[in-house]
Amino acid sequence: MNNKNFVLGDTAVDFFHTHGFLVIENATPAEEVSKIRKVYDQLFSERAGRKEGNQYDLAGADEEDKPAVLPQIVNPISYAPELEDLVFRKNSAAIGKQLLGPDIEFQGEHAIMKPPEIGQAAPWHQDEAYWKGDLEYNSISVWLALQDTTIENGCMQFIPGSHNQEVLPHRTIGHNPRIHGLEVIAEDVDLSDAIACPVPAGGATIHHCRTLHYTGPNQTGDIRRAYIHTWASPYRKRNVARDFYWQKTRETARDERRRKAGTVSVSSGSTPK
Ligand code: NI
Repeated sequence: MNNKNFVLGDTAVDFFHTHGFLVIENATPAEEVSKIRKVYDQLFSERAGRKEGNQYDLAGADEEDKPAVLPQIVNPISYAPELEDLVFRKNSAAIGKQLLGPDIEFQGEHAIMKPPEIGQAAPWHQDEAYWKGDLEYNSISVWLALQDTTIENGCMQFIPGSHNQEVLPHRTIGHNPRIHGLEVIAEDVDLSDAIACPVPAGGATIHHCRTLHYTGPNQTGDIRRAYIHTWASPYRKRNVARDFYWQKTRETARDERRRKAGTVSVSSGSTPK
């Protein structure tokens, strides 16, 4: 693999456009996986970003005295500048250019951790449901596995072809307004075609912002770590804004921390996987 010019074959590019997802076995070398893991574990253990609402629980009520069941850090690079110079960053950009075109922009990065035994599922959703109803998106997320991922510890699963749909109605997980994470309203979706995509450490899955995806609970005794980069074509304003009403009912502990800290929103938010 030439790390400076990560090349997807034509078959892989076609597969992505047809199915809305892709699996690659070698998104970054093993030594970089170890380096990112160290930084990653440090950031979660020191609760980086917690006070300003950039670390929070995606699948629980995010109370101070309870362990998070699906903790996320938004833009971990803000807390760990050593994440700037990564082979994975170059590779995720190269992948983005091949799938979306040369004019892509970095939309953001995040880390989603599933703790051993208690790590909860990220229910079926489309990432775009977290973003802005008045913008048109064309983006991909490259989801890097920092250890082998399996169905048992919460690898990615996808509905092939679901990226061709509009954004479907969503709600907060369990319809609980205290929870940040979203779930698609299940009666609208046929999940029987789901494909689970285990990848080895250093491998990645790639999905479009409208592809329906899911990760199961972590039923193992080890942490499941995912580090995600999102690349996007330039945004444009839609002629008719969509009403993503499910975003308006949320009132989370994270929102409260953000208000207290005066945290400014990033352009399109970030999304769970
Ligand atoms: Ni997601």
